Amino acid sequence: MPLSSRWKADLSSFLLAGFALLMTTSIAPTAAHAADANTTVHTLIIDTDPGADDVIALLFAMASPERLKIQALTTVAGNVPLAKTSRNARLAREWAKRPDIPVYAGAPRPLLRTPIYAADVHGSEGITGVKVFEPKQPLADGNAVDYLIRTLRAAPEKSVTLAMLGPETNLALALTQAPDIVRGLRELVLMGGAHFNGGNITPTAEFNVFADPHAAEIVLKSGVPITMLPLDVTHKILTSPERIAKLRGLGNQAGKTVADILDAYVQHDMQYYGLPGGPVHDATVIAYLLQPSLFKGRQVNVEVDSREGIGFGQTAVDWYGGLKRPANVNWIAEGDAQGFFDLLTQRISRLP
Ligand code: BDR
Ligand code: CA
Repeated sequence: MPLSSRWKADLSSFLLAGFALLMTTSIAPTAAHAADANTTVHTLIIDTDPGADDVIALLFAMASPERLKIQALTTVAGNVPLAKTSRNARLAREWAKRPDIPVYAGAPRPLLRTPIYAADVHGSEGITGVKVFEPKQPLADGNAVDYLIRTLRAAPEKSVTLAMLGPETNLALALTQAPDIVRGLRELVLMGGAHFNGGNITPTAEFNVFADPHAAEIVLKSGVPITMLPLDVTHKILTSPERIAKLRGLGNQAGKTVADILDAYVQHDMQYYGLPGGPVHDATVIAYLLQPSLFKGRQVNVEVDSREGIGFGQTAVDWYGGLKRPANVNWIAEGDAQGFFDLLTQRISRLP
């Protein structure tokens, strides 16, 4: 090769390598945030363990039918045992007046570890601040894991988005029984993990991953595109008395319900962390689906520590790319807090 062309070739590889490095190491809107991502219509399944913040996330999602075509809610044991998470998902469906959405109950316990719950944060019924009761509409027949396998197998390639708001047991079981289902998945958007923030259940672990780290490992190794909203971002999107008052002032029942839930739910975290307001973790997943431009992340390698010990359930995030392992997660580290609450309030205003 003549020297000049070789020099040119070297220069272009250098520039390409530089560009690739920039793409992998900068914190920036990623491909998923392309301009039209704010109008993407998702065929969506929501896997959840309600949970006060899960209920708010579910109401938020069910209020957005033009963008989120919810096929089903699938429930898992997490914040409270499965019977209660399943009842609470059905309550959210009833409050949103969305009887068209089936609710399937899934895994009653994690894959291997001893079950843990979070009644100290979510109350013994799993929803704070409001009275719970038995909803009119029952669960759908059949198990959530079978539903996931059946639905994802029948779906067109890369067509279904899965929002995951609790321990990842259901999807891990589905992937283990039917690895071919990855074909039907477009993307997983999940609340879980912690890096810069530290943990909320141990010094290093976040609840959803800690509650079933073996499941999280399977999911993170699935090869499906994954966006994670960890404590790093959820602890930056905090309630304030004004933000809750706006929801309460909407004049509909849903606004009052969300405000009542939040008023009670944020107390624990405000006291425990000394924060000026409380996070609404799972609702950030729905905001990301509706308006990804509110968030910034970085494509990184993330692995889960599932060994017994102080690091159990920790997400090891290779933020600087030192391990040179392939990136498997779009790790969200920044979010527009006021933009989040404006969007949440606007969507909740649409509900009864
Ligand atoms: C996560 O844990 C649960 O308690 C919440 O519902 C949320 O999904 C936050 O760590
Ligand atoms: Ca949850």
